[in-house]
Parts: sequence; structure tokens; C-alpha cells
Amino acid sequence: MKHLLTAAMDRDEAVALLDLAEDMHQIQDRELKKLPALRGRTVVNLFFEDSTRTRSSFEIAGKWLSADVINVSGKGSSASKGESLRDTGLTIAAMGVDGVVVRSGASGAPALLADWIGRPVVNAGDGTHEHPTQALLDAFALRRRIHGPDAARGKALDGVRVAIVGDIAHSRVARSNALLLPALGAEVTLVGPPSLLPLAAADGTRLGVRAETSLDTVIAEQPDALMLLRVQLERQAGKVAPSAAEYITGWSLTDERLARLPQTRIMHPGPMNRGLELSSRAADSDASTVLEQVTAGVSVRMAVLYSLLASDQGGSR
Ligand code: CP
Repeated sequence: MKHLLTAAMDRDEAVALLDLAEDMHQIQDRELKKLPALRGRTVVNLFFEDSTRTRSSFEIAGKWLSADVINVSGKGSSASKGESLRDTGLTIAAMGVDGVVVRSGASGAPALLADWIGRPVVNAGDGTHEHPTQALLDAFALRRRIHGPDAARGKALDGVRVAIVGDIAHSRVARSNALLLPALGAEVTLVGPPSLLPLAAADGTRLGVRAETSLDTVIAEQPDALMLLRVQLERQAGKVAPSAAEYITGWSLTDERLARLPQTRIMHPGPMNRGLELSSRAADSDASTVLEQVTAGVSVRMAVLYSLLASDQGGSR
């Protein structure tokens, strides 16, 4: 693996990456926080969009692998003076860094950067396109819940029914999960208002996933996991349809809907809009994997950085 730009990978590759993340996870469980694997390597976190989970967990992951980690954000960098992505990337590469983790509002930016800079690049979320490490950590957390933490290694998600609910159109998390989960054998249904389902219309057949507009229909089927997505008001350009009230009526995991899902795991990539995508009771219930997903993020990102940067060839310098 030279870069991680997409969650499109085959089953063996995905299981191997999840198993490596399991190794990292168990090291953390034993409180052996630091490994020397990336000593002497430098990773730049280049974030042009805000982030809490992804940026800090990449920083923790790099540091727990003994890499030096530098954070560069769009707002405090020369990007705010108009410097292009290409010039920013070439400038960072010229300082001799070994890998770049990039988040951008522009779909496709990480792939361009990978072509330009000759260093391993990790996509930490690009526009409405993909968020591959989010899909990997979602699969990791779900695999542990389904098989049990001690029996997850080597397993996939065959026959596990996952409904991804909400703002599908603007969700890079939905797209990456719609690529990764079926590769692991899961059956994915995308659920949302028609106005927020164009991904399903455009890509559903290609991705081999089902699309539904009725959350109540999907709830009646008792999925194994319900993944609620954040409603991305910032990407809706002022055209919010349905309204918040309509959204809650049709697609929110309310307390009443939660009561109809006694066995279903409740997932959310964060950040959550409590009361809109899901109730606080749902977010904080025993069925919720939200904080397990956050914890998994460190292990998965350690596995990704290790896979890209710990090879015998060393960095790309
Ligand atoms: N899930 C996720 O990407 O969260 P952040 O935006 O906080 O990184």
C-alpha cells in the first residue's frame, strides 16, 4: 500500500488491516502505549477543514508509533494567503517529511497531492467523496461488537445488515462505508430523505447497495447496526430540505424508534447533533458504539501509518 486514498479494497486487504489494528488495540489495552516503529519518521497532518476526532487520533497514532507529528491547518497556514494545494504540498515535502495526512473540502484533493509530492498520503476526508479511515474504524468497532473483542481477529462481517441513515448525499462516511462494508460481506442499506439520497441513485447499483427512503421500514427489518450520519448543514448551501422538524419525524433515531430496536448496535461517526440525528438516550445507550468508534480510530490509524511508513525502504526521501 503506497497511499490510503479510498476504502475500496478487497476482503483480504481489509481483514489484514483490521487485524493489524487489533494488534495495535491490544498493545494499548496493555498500556504499552509507545512502539518504536516510526522513530525518525515525520508525519504532517494537513487539515484544511475542522476536525476533532480524525486530527487528534492521527496525531496520537503517530506519536504512539514514535513518529514526529506536525499539525498544519488551513487557517493558520499560507493557504489562507492563497497558496495552492500543490505548492503547499510541495513545500511540506521539500522539508523532508515522510508522510502526509490530508483533510480537504475538495473531493479528490488527496489523490492529487499523492501524484504531486512523491510521499505516502492518507485521505483524512475529502469533500463529499471519501473518509477511508472512518470506514475502517467503523468496521473495526462493529466487528468487535459482532464477534466479541477476543474473537474478532481474522473475521469479516458476512451477512451483517447495516443501515446507514441520513444525509447520504453529502457524506464521505457513507460512501467509504458503502465500499468497505460489502467487501467484508456486510449487507448495506442507505436510508434517507429523497433529497439527501442522490449517492444511492447515482452509485447504488454500482456499489451493490440498496437504497430506501423509509427508516421505519428498515427498522421493522431489525438491522444488526444502524449508522446515523451527521446532517451536514455546511454543505447544503442554504437549501435545507427537509426541515429539521421533518427530518426528526422521518429519519431521526428517537427514543420511540430506539425502543423498537432492542438488538441493534447504534453507530455515529461524530460529531453528533443530539436531538436531530439521534436522541441522547440512543447516543448514550449500551447499544451505542460511538465512543468505541473513537477509540478504534487510534488503533486503525496506527495500523495505516505503520503500513505506509514502517517498510524497509523507509521514508520516500
Ligand atoms: N468523524 C470525523 O471525521 O470527525 P472529525 O470531523 O471530528 O474528525
